[in-house]
Amino acid sequence: MDITSVRRSALQKLSPHCRVCKECNGIACAGEMPGLGGTGSGASFKNNILALAEHKLNLRTLHTAKEPDTQFSFFDNLLSAPLMAAPITAIGLQTNGKLSDVEWAESVVYGSQKSGTIPWTGDGPDPLHFHSGLDALRNSEVQGVPVIKPRENKAIIEYIKRAEEAKAIAIGIDIDAAGIINMKLKGQPVEPKGKKQLQEIISSTSLPVILKGIMTSDEAILAAEVGAAGIVISNHGGRVLDHTPGTAEVLSEISSQVSGRMMVIVDGGVRSGVDILKMLALGADAVLIGRPLLIGAAGGSAEGVSLILNKFISEMKAAMTLTGCASLADISNEILR
Ligand SMILES: Cc1cc2nc3c(=O)[nH]c(=O)nc-3n(C[C@H](O)[C@H](O)[C@H](O)COP(=O)(O)O)c2cc1C
Repeated sequence: MDITSVRRSALQKLSPHCRVCKECNGIACAGEMPGLGGTGSGASFKNNILALAEHKLNLRTLHTAKEPDTQFSFFDNLLSAPLMAAPITAIGLQTNGKLSDVEWAESVVYGSQKSGTIPWTGDGPDPLHFHSGLDALRNSEVQGVPVIKPRENKAIIEYIKRAEEAKAIAIGIDIDAAGIINMKLKGQPVEPKGKKQLQEIISSTSLPVILKGIMTSDEAILAAEVGAAGIVISNHGGRVLDHTPGTAEVLSEISSQVSGRMMVIVDGGVRSGVDILKMLALGADAVLIGRPLLIGAAGGSAEGVSLILNKFISEMKAAMTLTGCASLADISNEILR
């Protein structure tokens, strides 16, 4: 199995819901929801790609950074590199059953493990969506980060208990899903959260709580104040609000406010190891990868996911060598032009 055959099989399996484009940039699938595109005009998804493309790297080779070390400590768990699988759910619904939730969950859990990293799992309008991810974690004994929708607090706290039983490393709340209508239609209401509600959630567990979907500095500071252990700078892959900036555009201004106080993770449009390096140089501690792993799973199950992750890691290593970074600690905005 190689990447070309994985992509070919993914196209057969996912068509017409995903065209497995040469560049996965949100253009062909703009507005396709259900589907894998971005909401509305697709601008938020496209902006993620455009914002990353804005940044350029300084090529430097007069040094000794021959074999860069990419190992990354995520809440005391040593990962092969600072990249993890993004939470994706309701994939059966998005692909009209062509890739099932269980198939995806198992592929991403075992594929991440194979590549020395961890999966984040998601939550959706049917309780089965949350549980397919959690079951895959429990059955495999792989530790991951279950991400819970911003349900009413009582429901979130119940879901956190189940995640604790599945030996989660941390809990995520995709707070940017506060306006998702299909949750309400299925009797699973979601809501934005104020300070007190966040404090109640965070104090209900001893696990680190990460708020996913932060796009402004003031909200990052608020997340730190209420005791969140981390944030994910994310516009949900462009799926919740049209016309948001790309995450690489807001990353450094947000990170400069909270870096060192909490973990800063970012996602959106990361398509190569070079993109990962750019995100770290802009101030992220780690990145999440979304759609490329869906293609890996659809075309090659766990092995397909692992192939894509390994490709990203080896590209990142090469890019570190070519920018003079021997370890993650050497990556700073100095490598950006
Ligand atoms: C089909 C689909 C389903 C998603 N489901 C969830 C989810 O349940 N929870 C969540 O926090 N994010 C979800 N996301 C967003 C991803 O976690 C991530 O933020 C985004 O895909 C990153 O952008 P990328 O796909 O360009 O890498 C979903 C994304 C897609 C494409």
